[in-house]
Amino acid sequence: MKADRDLKVYIKTFGCQMNERDSESAAALLSADAFSITDSEKDADILIFNTCSVRDQAERKAIGKIGILKRLKRSRPHIFIGIMGCMAQSRGAELLKEIPHLDFVIGTGQLHRLPEIIKSEIRKRHKTVFDELARPDFNALAAHLADTENNFSASIAVMTGCNRFCSYCIVPYVRGREHSRPPDEIIEEAEKLVASGVREILLLGQNIAAYGLDGKSPPKDAFSPFAELLEKLNNIDGLYRIRFTSPHPAYFNDRLIDAVTSLPKICESIHLPLQSGSDRILKLMNRPYTSAHYMSVVNKLKSKSPRMIFSTDVIVGFPGETEDDFNATRGIMNEVAFDNAFIFKYSKRRDTLAAEMPEQLEQKIKEERNKILLEDLAERTGRYNASLVGKILEVMAEGPSKRNSSRWAGRSSSNKIVIFEPESSVSSGSLINVKIERSTPMTLFGKIQVS
Ligand code: SAH
Ligand code: SF4
Ligand code: F3S
Repeated sequence: MKADRDLKVYIKTFGCQMNERDSESAAALLSADAFSITDSEKDADILIFNTCSVRDQAERKAIGKIGILKRLKRSRPHIFIGIMGCMAQSRGAELLKEIPHLDFVIGTGQLHRLPEIIKSEIRKRHKTVFDELARPDFNALAAHLADTENNFSASIAVMTGCNRFCSYCIVPYVRGREHSRPPDEIIEEAEKLVASGVREILLLGQNIAAYGLDGKSPPKDAFSPFAELLEKLNNIDGLYRIRFTSPHPAYFNDRLIDAVTSLPKICESIHLPLQSGSDRILKLMNRPYTSAHYMSVVNKLKSKSPRMIFSTDVIVGFPGETEDDFNATRGIMNEVAFDNAFIFKYSKRRDTLAAEMPEQLEQKIKEERNKILLEDLAERTGRYNASLVGKILEVMAEGPSKRNSSRWAGRSSSNKIVIFEPESSVSSGSLINVKIERSTPMTLFGKIQVS
């Protein structure tokens, strides 16, 4: 076996932005220790899969991917394969039985121990599961890679866990209870990132509008620790854009609405998970708001910030969802005119209340409803994007477009992808004005405007 410092680690991420962030922390911890990080699966000595359990499909995808590594392990028997993240937390030792060529399983509460665990496991060479759901180590959460290519944008986990227990959702079981990081630590992390060239920050938390409350009920309209955090971040010189995900509508109170609409660095696009437009289903989902409350939050945001656009998460085919319930979801989606939506077919998750509910719906119904909402969405975004032709948008340049590297891609404050011909002065993170000349439902195309 090579010395630890010669070992190359490959990390592949499945799941949400929180998992992406955890993978970055893991990579930073490993490279600060003795390991080097590689993006080549074939060169790696240690392969780690950071997994998601939110839907059955997410688990199957990761298991399928790890399953086919059996051959790689046969040809390179010294390699070490591990699973971390939410599926590791949820299924622990089962995974070692199911995947014989797997070497270790590390749950979400053990991320900070990754370098130490890998080193000792390699020496022992027997299979182990580390799945104690400990309070997260905030220092590990703050570790970032010095990424030279893409360092205009970074994300920060401001809290971990979730206390909401929506009846369909596995996240509280695999991520533990809410723990908010102290504001000073978050500001320090943001300032360091900005000093290293970051111009846009994405704040992450499963129940981010409840930041600082750690399990307390939604507060009165005048109080929001998350709004206070946003105000502090907005004061950082050299930071240009702030985004956040995901706020729960029950915590999106007037104090937060005021902050989001008055602070200039907060982007003009809000991701506000709806889940269902039917009050009956929302209740069964243990989502403590009504469709009317949801609309009142959206309408307040729209009236204070008319350019604000919205995206959402919606579940179709929740147990007992009738045609009327589904139409209520469809109706509110059209009313808000969501510009983007993640539409999910309900998937039974272990330990959750909804998994035991009667009236589980057939896959066929879920597929039909999913298709209808996707068609509505494509129609709406096509129309909305077309309405932007002729307008000038402020775009943060990202880098060469994937399809045609002579052109560049960037994003508007409203999170629209904009393709343009670059000029020599433009680099990743530059803010430029682009006049939109053409649109498709997914993309806008335009020309840089010289002011
Ligand atoms: N914390 C975020 C969501 C995290 S999970 C929030 O509260 O909005 C991301 C999305 O996955 C959820 O918004 C939900 O729409 C979807 N989801 C969660 N559990 C699911 C399940 N069992 N079946 C289908 N979709 C699910
Ligand atoms: Fe899951 Fe609900 Fe928590 Fe979001 S708020 S992570 S949907 S339990
Ligand atoms: Fe999946 Fe875990 Fe995120 S279950 S959605 S990776 S918090």
